[in-house]
Amino acid sequence: MKMTINSIKKAKGVQPLVMITAYDALFARLFEPYADLLLVGDSLNMSFAGRNDTLSATLEQMIYHTNAVCMGAKNSFIICDMPFGTYTNKEEALKNATRVFQETPAHSVKIEGGESKAEVVRYLTQNGIAVCGHIGLLPQAVRSEGGYKVKGKTDEEELQLIKDAKAIQSAGAFCMVIEGVKSEVATKVAASVKIPVIGIGAGVGVDGQVLVFSDMLGLFEEFTPKFVKKYLDGSNLVKTAIQNYANEVKGREFPKEEHTY
Ligand code: KIV
Repeated sequence: MKMTINSIKKAKGVQPLVMITAYDALFARLFEPYADLLLVGDSLNMSFAGRNDTLSATLEQMIYHTNAVCMGAKNSFIICDMPFGTYTNKEEALKNATRVFQETPAHSVKIEGGESKAEVVRYLTQNGIAVCGHIGLLPQAVRSEGGYKVKGKTDEEELQLIKDAKAIQSAGAFCMVIEGVKSEVATKVAASVKIPVIGIGAGVGVDGQVLVFSDMLGLFEEFTPKFVKKYLDGSNLVKTAIQNYANEVKGREFPKEEHTY
């Protein structure tokens, strides 16, 4: 069933939401039957484009990949990540998010940041752009914070996360991602708002889970965060398949009669 903003909101307290990233039509089509929401994350800049972090992802890249995902999963609710530097103030954010809505059929954009981004979120939602928030560990802050820092370790951080979630909710977001937060704190954050809070590295007490597909399929070999469960030994399966193909080509075992016109 295709999710809508209303059914996503109504899922809170009923059933955990399943979100997964997708960057192309091929995988999006495979994920569609099982995922409630597909996220075209700017993480594509790492696993797809081979960069060290997400910061150099461009709006053009996000629009290109979002269109591919929308083509592959026509019945999915699709969220496009706003890349670093495209929502530094509300006017810029509206101009760039409008491009996403005009140039792709995505249903929503995602914005990193809590209280400090509430004004931007409010301006977008007031102008017809559905927004998914993103609080806690913010991958786009990796350079300014000097690494990926787990949040919710002190009382002050806990208080700030709750303020962030409430600010994003009252600015009109329909859901939010919470990343890299101590499990018991993420649970309290989720309980503090009425909209779904979807966790990544935030424990089980939230309203849903999101994983980066190339991590959970075991395809991304650079590093594996503690919160990732590998549901497939993807890179080894692919390597074995390609090795078998190469051996068969070299040994003139492929193509056989049945692959030949
Ligand atoms: O870019 C991304 O894939 C994300 C997830 C980590 C939630 O924002």
